[in-house]
Amino acid sequence: MSSPQTAAITAVHGWLPEDILSNADLEKMVDTNDEWIRTRTGISERRILKDPEKATSDMACEVIKGLCTQRGITPEEVDLVIVATVTPDMFFPSTAQLACHKAGASNAWGFDLSAACSGFLFALRTGSQFVASGTHSKVIVVGADKMSSIVDYTDRTTCVLFGDAASGVLLEADASGATGIQDAILRSDGAGGQYLRMQGGGSLNPSSHETVDNKLHYIEQDGRPVFKAAVTSMADVSYEIMERNGLTADDVSWLVPHQANLRIIDATANRMGVGRDKVMINIEKYGNTTAATIPLCLWEWRNRLTPGENLILSAFGGGFTWGSIWLKWAMEPEA
Ligand code: UT7
Repeated sequence: MSSPQTAAITAVHGWLPEDILSNADLEKMVDTNDEWIRTRTGISERRILKDPEKATSDMACEVIKGLCTQRGITPEEVDLVIVATVTPDMFFPSTAQLACHKAGASNAWGFDLSAACSGFLFALRTGSQFVASGTHSKVIVVGADKMSSIVDYTDRTTCVLFGDAASGVLLEADASGATGIQDAILRSDGAGGQYLRMQGGGSLNPSSHETVDNKLHYIEQDGRPVFKAAVTSMADVSYEIMERNGLTADDVSWLVPHQANLRIIDATANRMGVGRDKVMINIEKYGNTTAATIPLCLWEWRNRLTPGENLILSAFGGGFTWGSIWLKWAMEPEA
């Protein structure tokens, strides 16, 4: 019989830049208004990392350090760091390597994982395998994105949506399997790639004056097809993970959704039969921080959670990528 050992979250930490970009600020930059942004997306403001010398690895470094402090361990004790991001500092070295170096996690190996807004779920699933199998004892999974580095602040269809942040978790074994990651359903479909992407700078369109003139170094999104696919897929997969594990809406303590659009979050909660009072929502303060949204919610809600509670983490994003993870919370609230 296979081991019941699971990977449990034993620390959670988030990091946000101080500078706020409000809807009122955006009204002065593009043809938009607070009313449109709030009713269509649920966003009021987002955080922007303005320091030109700071990048995604600096935010990820703060998360690694914060997790170690919270757990009372040194960064040298960490075995593996996975950074989910679509805004790496550079193609290589990976953001994980840079963040580990800055945090002093000198014994950890690590890598970046690219799955856009589903990045944290893909990375959590990946990291949890190393813990559940017993090969690694302390694994850090970070979602970090400096979206302001790839947003075109003259394009009103995207610039109102995104913000910068990093957040993450420490995973350690629960030998009993009573807490931690219980099940995961992850999916992807490259046919949706054309609707949400950044085309420039890669091997298809290496950076050139032409790619810059054509703004290929910015995120581009055709919002409607993404919205349509997100509403259906995120709701379907969240329902599917409940159904295949025999979980009712009453069994679910919290839905922890990716924060892209309040209307997508509501559609998912409705399909699951879960009321708004059991949905973590902070999109109004931070917008869409891509890979950071889900752990940022866990961090903000950590003192309202108790061991054994059932959490469903769900996301949809570029790729397309989407999925749900069912986990049982393991941490006591802080005193
Ligand atoms: O996290 C990664 C996955 N991404 C997502 O999940 C995003 C999914 N998509 C969405 O959330 C929504 O499609 C958006 C929020 C991006 C857009 O909302 P929408 O209700 O789908 O609006 P739309 O694109 O259909 O545009 C409606 C109108 C258009 O004007 P016309 O053609 O009706 O005259 C747009 O030009 O709203 C206009 N518009 C804006 N108006 C004011 C688009 N952006 C803005 C804006 N301010 N910022």
